[in-house]
Amino acid sequence: MDLVNDECQAHAVSQHDVSTGHDDSTFLFRQSLLPYYGPELPHPCEHLLLDENIDHHIARLLASYSVDINRGFLPSVDPLPHLPLSSKFACWELLMMDLTRYLHAKNIRSAILSRLKIVHIEQNDLLDESELHRALLVLAVLSHAFVWGEKPISTYIPSCLAIPWVEITKRANRPPVLTHSLIALSNWKRFDVEKPIELGNIAMLNCFLSGIDEANFYLVIIELEFHGAKALKHMLRAQYFASKEKVNELVNELKAIHSIQKTIFATLVKTFDEVDPYIFYNRVRHFLAGWKGNPSLPDGLLYEGVSETRQFLYGASAAQSSLIAAFDVFFDVKHDSEHTREFISEMRFYMPPKHRQFLEILGIDKYNINHFVKKLTSSEQVQQESELLHAYNACIDQLVTFRNRHIQIVTLYILAQIRKNDYVQLDSKQQTDHPVNSNSKHSDETASSARGTGGTILMPFLKTCRDETIIQRLH
Ligand code: HEM
Repeated sequence: MDLVNDECQAHAVSQHDVSTGHDDSTFLFRQSLLPYYGPELPHPCEHLLLDENIDHHIARLLASYSVDINRGFLPSVDPLPHLPLSSKFACWELLMMDLTRYLHAKNIRSAILSRLKIVHIEQNDLLDESELHRALLVLAVLSHAFVWGEKPISTYIPSCLAIPWVEITKRANRPPVLTHSLIALSNWKRFDVEKPIELGNIAMLNCFLSGIDEANFYLVIIELEFHGAKALKHMLRAQYFASKEKVNELVNELKAIHSIQKTIFATLVKTFDEVDPYIFYNRVRHFLAGWKGNPSLPDGLLYEGVSETRQFLYGASAAQSSLIAAFDVFFDVKHDSEHTREFISEMRFYMPPKHRQFLEILGIDKYNINHFVKKLTSSEQVQQESELLHAYNACIDQLVTFRNRHIQIVTLYILAQIRKNDYVQLDSKQQTDHPVNSNSKHSDETASSARGTGGTILMPFLKTCRDETIIQRLH
């Protein structure tokens, strides 16, 4: 079954299908396609507001979608470091404490099988949101460690993980796989709770093999999400002022967004200093992979004790970042080419349901900023016209700059590492009977067809995402 078609048919998925667990290769995932009905508040454009009340309304609106006005998609309360050790979930936490050591010793599987019993989730368990998120994180990390932590790769997750994991993901309306929101957004602590969520004041709660490069890979993303958070308020304000045709105020909001985009960019490039490409490629990345579009698990993964049918799910990727998606939605960047459509739209279902729903509100066509700017710049106000166009295009250019630098990151952290590994393998095995030129040809072919942890064929995908941004410039 095609998940993209499923997305369109989300409303058609009957409760009966879900509760009876109609058995096919995506049924675990289809549960998360159910529409979320939250206690949402109206968009500011729909509300009769005085301009001075708008921030109060926006803060409440964001909160109703579990988005924090200062932290964005990061949780409004710092993540729980562990589930209560006196609870029935202590066995998971005790194993997490030793996870890195078991992975180093390559005996994580026997540790999981011998130390974990099946824990069933009762109605009164994990009612607190922080506990729910912690349980989701722990089970996802242990499951990915089981699959990828030893060779050969495991084609199943044992029932002691699969059964409670699927029970909890059903409750949380999430797919049973590691996601960006779990491994990054729900997995940090602050040293000083009075200070911001920034490098120097944050540390990871859990990693796989651990070490500074693995931690920094996630910490950069967490800082970026924190700095970017402030843009959400300005996006809603911009839509509000645009709907009231207040051009000066709209220009100011776009300028504020542009300034935040520059901060986001400044955080992104910290990756180059803080994360070693070799370590990232060889020691960090493979734990994030999923079991869809992944040549290492072409037949998907079995959730023992849950379903006889192998399941296909993408792994964790920052492509699941609701923050970057919000910029696309706000500027009406459409990822609708053959390279981007399926993957980007499917990434929405790996985001927390309320965040996904917030993106839908932000993207309602009648608040489309691109249309407003086009309309306003074709009016008579010549002076403001060029200022508005300039402020709008500066934001688009900054999003393109972000994507260009991200392409450089992927080139260094993935493609160059594939070439190096190919070279080393060929060098040791075939040095004597292969001329140097054929080594590099082989490498190029492998790198050009390289896939991301989410299974995309990297360069055509990322360049198309970038080009789909460029065309949003207005003239
Ligand atoms: C070492 C650092 C990074 C590497 C190696 C990396 C790698 C990748 C890869 C391989 C993809 C393709 C999709 C997939 O298959 O997963 C991707 C997509 C994406 N990544 Fe990253 N990434 C890095 C850092 C970041 C950061 C810090 C962000 C910011 C939140 C980010 C945001 C995105 C987005 C939004 C996409 C979707 C494509 C697009 O919108 O242009 N990435 N990344």
